[in-house]
Amino acid sequence: MKAVVHRAFGAPEVLSVEEVPKPTPKAGELLIRIRAAALTAVDCAARQGRPFSARLAFGPFSPRNPVLGGACAGDVEVVGTGVRRFAIGDRVVAISGSFGMHAEYVCVREDSAVTAMSSGLTHAEAVAVSEGALTALPFLRDAANLRAGQSILVNGASGSVGTAAVQLAQHLGAEVTGVCSTANIELVRSLGAHEIIDYTKEGFARNRRTYDVIFDAVGKSSFAYCRGALKRGGIYLTTAPSMAILGQTLWTKLRSKKARIEFTGLRPPREKTKDLVLLGELAGAGAIRAVIDRTYPLEQAAEAHGYVDTGRKRGAVIMLAGGPG
Ligand SMILES: NC(=O)c1ccc[n+]([C@@H]2O[C@H](COP(=O)([O-])OP(=O)(O)OC[C@H]3O[C@@H](n4cnc5c(N)ncnc54)[C@H](OP(=O)(O)O)[C@@H]3O)[C@@H](O)[C@H]2O)c1
Repeated sequence: MKAVVHRAFGAPEVLSVEEVPKPTPKAGELLIRIRAAALTAVDCAARQGRPFSARLAFGPFSPRNPVLGGACAGDVEVVGTGVRRFAIGDRVVAISGSFGMHAEYVCVREDSAVTAMSSGLTHAEAVAVSEGALTALPFLRDAANLRAGQSILVNGASGSVGTAAVQLAQHLGAEVTGVCSTANIELVRSLGAHEIIDYTKEGFARNRRTYDVIFDAVGKSSFAYCRGALKRGGIYLTTAPSMAILGQTLWTKLRSKKARIEFTGLRPPREKTKDLVLLGELAGAGAIRAVIDRTYPLEQAAEAHGYVDTGRKRGAVIMLAGGPG
């Protein structure tokens, strides 16, 4: 089968499309024929082996997972012995704990984060609607306990986590302010943001407005910068790990204004599966929609990585494997 492989950390040129052995499902596993897979900022960080502190996960000296890609949608081609929840031909969306999805096939355990695709979505839409939202949902629902009537500011509202956060916050009944650049104002408004702040024109935490929740989906701010823009009892959330936020998560536990980082990828597979089901239902009901910026065939992986490396993508970038998504 074809797969996008990298054997050294570095620029997109370290990637090559190679023929590698097609995996065979063991007992309890499914073989998925991948149709569409998300290419994310995390894949690009893993390719680069950056930040250095993340080498524990990405591999200390060379890539631990030569094939990247942590979320895909595809068709079940073979089921291993003992598999009960899935049958050949099922359209599924799956999340990998160890990458491996920028390829034509992948084997996943039946009890891993995998579920039936929502009907009415293409494979590309099914993975796009799941990937960023699977990060945004636990931040908003579990860490912030976001409730109807509360106010939330989403920084990085045009990225894949941010576009999901704006839609989910709006669905939860919150008053949503999205922060983005001028070019993305219409997109963020179309996702349901009530207010928009153009970060190229004003600093979002310096205009005297205050919020119950500030969610920095792209990790470009700090608790120190945002604290004054939080209401009493408010919470600042960021996706970007740093020594500062790890310390602040601890020392603000008993304070009125809290700071918090989450590592949503480390959640147990059964929690992710429950959320995949919920997100599929929300997408099926039209409460959230896929935001797809660009699609690329596997053969253009280096070009696709180069684009995601710019940090300017809008919503999801999708790698297509074998025909239209
Ligand atoms: N902690 C966790 O559990 C977890 C899980 C998954 C991902 N992450 C992290 O979450 C982060 C976001 O991921 P993502 O997939 O959403 O990224 P992304 O899609 O690559 O983000 C790109 C978007 O960010 C916007 N942006 C760039 N600089 C900005 C700034 N200074 N202010 C506001 N917006 C800005 C860009 O819009 P403009 O072009 O308009 O600037 C672009 O639309 C990544 O760092 C990833 O590693 C964390």
